Amino acid sequence: MGREVTLKILRYNPQDPSDKPRFDEYKLEETPGMSLFIALNLIRENQDATLAFDFVCRAGICGSCGMVVNGKPALACRTLVNNFEEDVITIMPMAAFKLIKDLSVDTGNWMNGMSKRVESWVHTNKETDISKIEEKIEPDVADETFELDRCIECGICVAACGTKIMRDDFIGAVGLNRVARFDIDPHDERTAEDYYELVGDDDGIFGCMTLLGCEDNCPKHLPLQTKIAYLRRKLVEQKSDK
Ligand code: SF4
Ligand code: FES
Repeated sequence: MGREVTLKILRYNPQDPSDKPRFDEYKLEETPGMSLFIALNLIRENQDATLAFDFVCRAGICGSCGMVVNGKPALACRTLVNNFEEDVITIMPMAAFKLIKDLSVDTGNWMNGMSKRVESWVHTNKETDISKIEEKIEPDVADETFELDRCIECGICVAACGTKIMRDDFIGAVGLNRVARFDIDPHDERTAEDYYELVGDDDGIFGCMTLLGCEDNCPKHLPLQTKIAYLRRKLVEQKSDK
């Protein structure tokens, strides 16, 4: 017989004017290898079909299941109930994003806005011929670019960020990581001056207070602070030229 755990979950539907935020508690028996994703699905199947939360892949790939677990943002599908010594686990939605219902938040529109803000596409004046193989780049540069491309846009770095609490328009480590990715990619012809125009302000690279919440919590272990520090050094030179 596994231990009995209680999931204390914040419930609220902002679309319903009569609803008020509250915690509901659900008890269930822990089974070996039980993730929070499995626990939430069991609750929805057996106890409360109205509980809202998001998931797609169950494998840490789609980035849909971010939530705040005992005060720290995490992916529900990659977090084991066994990680917690306490028998009561408190789960809340990621407050950095618009609440849809209960644990479900709208990261998609936020990520879309961030992508537009950093112009997240290759900028080049070269003619592109899609019938030809893409222009080759050095393997070590390709590796470095692909490393940053592993971001799954889960929003956990944003939910863990102290600057984002103070500055609603801060683009977060995910946005700065995206800039670093295009800066490394030789297909993109943008200069440091171009990047300065995009993110050279307190809602961008100069807003980060290096609190490390992003890198400490990123489920893909991206080198976020190293890249932010590199970008800041590069763009501060632009600032001093102005
Ligand atoms: S940088 Fe990490 S924490 Fe942030 S959105 Fe990408 S995968 Fe998630
Ligand atoms: S369900 Fe896809 S990352 Fe968790």
